[in-house]
Amino acid sequence: MIRKRDIIIKGFSKLLKEEKLKLVAEYFENPGEVVSLLKSFWHTDESQQKLFDEFSENTITNFYIPYGISPNVIINGHTYIVPMVIEESSVVAAASAAAKFWSERGGFHAEIIDTQKVGQVHFSWPGNPPTLRDLMPAISQYLLNAAKPITGNMEKRGGGVLDIKLIDMTDKLDDYYQLMVTFDTRDSMGANFINSVLEEFGHSLQQFMLEQLQLKTEERQVEIIMAILSNYTPNCVVKAWVECSIAELENVDEKLGGLEFAKKFEKAVKIAQIDPYRAATHNKGIYNGIDSVAIATGNDFRAIEAAGHTYASRNGHYESLSRVELKDNKFKFILEVPLAMGTVGGLTSLHPLAKQSLQLLGNPVATELMMISAVMGLANNFSAVKSLTTTGIQAGHMKMHLFNILNYFKASEKEKDAALAHFKDQKVSFSSVGKYIASMRG
Ligand code: MEV
Repeated sequence: MIRKRDIIIKGFSKLLKEEKLKLVAEYFENPGEVVSLLKSFWHTDESQQKLFDEFSENTITNFYIPYGISPNVIINGHTYIVPMVIEESSVVAAASAAAKFWSERGGFHAEIIDTQKVGQVHFSWPGNPPTLRDLMPAISQYLLNAAKPITGNMEKRGGGVLDIKLIDMTDKLDDYYQLMVTFDTRDSMGANFINSVLEEFGHSLQQFMLEQLQLKTEERQVEIIMAILSNYTPNCVVKAWVECSIAELENVDEKLGGLEFAKKFEKAVKIAQIDPYRAATHNKGIYNGIDSVAIATGNDFRAIEAAGHTYASRNGHYESLSRVELKDNKFKFILEVPLAMGTVGGLTSLHPLAKQSLQLLGNPVATELMMISAVMGLANNFSAVKSLTTTGIQAGHMKMHLFNILNYFKASEKEKDAALAHFKDQKVSFSSVGKYIASMRG
């Protein structure tokens, strides 16, 4: 009997993995097959599987996503082979095409603008703002001393807490203040370090205020609302760009001359600067590239995206993260993006493939990985806007999607070969492929 979906499951996390798997399978008509399917994705090496099981709660199997490679990515004169983990069929192809295109035009360029991370202690305090402001130098010193056991190692690596600022937000919410703390987390993304320091700062702030006997009793009480890093990192920013002469764009398209192409491309990017509907899709194309490197290297792509979309809104409306400069017969395409990434700690060294990805990239430091990721964002953005403003996106996109459609129809290898030849110069769509397969099968 199929298990009812509206029955609350109690104590699921306490079950053994096999029991969880069986319980989930009961929601299907064919539980035996479901168990076999899910188990077929388990790692054959038990200790490796255990590692994956322990990354998260309630793991019952693994979910595969293709791990692809974009070769020949030249950045600041250095050639990289870039690993990309992504399910969307055209992303690696688009990145590789852009890498090849720009390898013939001076390669990609990138530079780090800054690497500061931030976190906040949000608290309520009922006193007079100037009193707290006057106490800030002493508070900072007290908090820094109290957090020494946590910050010591990071300081040895050249990082640590850079600054603690009091932000008075009482005009927006009664009694509400923040400690805005700036960090240098070196080659780690630093989330755990930052959060541990901030929680310690919260406790120490309460302790410090309790000790201020010159204050009224109620002023000695601080309510810590929460202590957490901010994923908005407007001062952890990387810039990537490509540039060439207009003459070098002459053969980009059959119909458009170099200057026409450059101007149309610029217009497309300007549309993404003024229209949030287009900007969301434009920036999504950028994150196709960035996220796939983030996943391949064990970085937190949700944090990276959250920062990017907030940064894209910093001028009061949501806009494109990239821009075009056309002057002196030169085309320059620039991406500026916040990227909090790490090359040590977290999954970067635990996930065997993340570790290998970093090796493939030559074991970069965090700033180098930021540059590589931004470049892949720019590469995907370039390919997308180039296709959109010339051939349209669907021709290339659907060609890459052909395999997915053929797999949907359970095409044999022979049928796939025939379909590949047939659709070389035919329009690919779900129905055209369906019809073709049906005709082959009589
Ligand atoms: C698809 O994943 C990404 C694009 O839509 C990006 C864009 O429109 O610029 C092609």
